[in-house]
Amino acid sequence: MKISQLTEAFGAVVSGVDLGNVDPEGVEEIREAFHKHQVLLFRDQEISMEQHIVFSKNFGPLEVHISKDSLHKDHEEILLVSNVKENGKYIGVENAGDSWHSDLSYMPEPSLGSLLYALEVSEVGGDTEWLNMYAAYDTLPQKTKERIEGLKARHSFNRYKNKRIGVPDQRKVGGKERYAKISPPDVFHPVARTHPETGRKALYVSPRFTLGILDGSDDEAQDLLDELIEHATQRDFVYHHSWKVGDLIMWDNRNTLHLACRGIPEGQIRHMHRTTISGDVPF
Ligand SMILES: [Fe+2]
Repeated sequence: MKISQLTEAFGAVVSGVDLGNVDPEGVEEIREAFHKHQVLLFRDQEISMEQHIVFSKNFGPLEVHISKDSLHKDHEEILLVSNVKENGKYIGVENAGDSWHSDLSYMPEPSLGSLLYALEVSEVGGDTEWLNMYAAYDTLPQKTKERIEGLKARHSFNRYKNKRIGVPDQRKVGGKERYAKISPPDVFHPVARTHPETGRKALYVSPRFTLGILDGSDDEAQDLLDELIEHATQRDFVYHHSWKVGDLIMWDNRNTLHLACRGIPEGQIRHMHRTTISGDVPF
């Protein structure tokens, strides 16, 4: 196994490994690299859904996503990230992730990490970006670090509550009721969370899921959130990925945000499988 740095910002490419067949020592090497680099890219993988699930479970139990209509029929641990249509309906989440976010941060125990595997990619568009939220925290002005110390932020899945990003037209059909129905109650998480494995602090807010700050109205909180989000989303902290078939990217949701860049032309297919690892209560 060879592990090499992906960008100056963060991330690593892991080569010389078949994710369908990793021994316990290999798993430990990958775990170490995961904690060090935050985002790991494995190229040219040919794995079944079962193998994807088995490999993912090395890092914790798996989540079954709340978007029940986007799960694989035979494997509920696999979330379809796809623009394939059946009977005029998308089979998976098609336009998810179009604002910076950390998966499941709207849950009391947000996801530890996710593993996204590319089975079919579009010729144009469909890229994904990740942000290094350790770097975002480390480079905050000292005054801001002191200001956010001990602060908690409110997170929600419900797009209709989120004035920052709003609701795109294609999500409005039946949307309000759907969001109200599937959205769990709002949760509060530290604005700066401590990574349970490395002990490092990462900024833990996102435009997609963070609505406000505890003990203040959401309106009052917007200036601080604006400042934090603007700081975190600078290009120096970004890894930009153009997918190839067989790429599997595993990322840590506790110290990164990610974004679907979209821009896939009509008629081009992008089809991926995601597993999501359960996490614990942020502190
Ligand atoms: Fe996501």
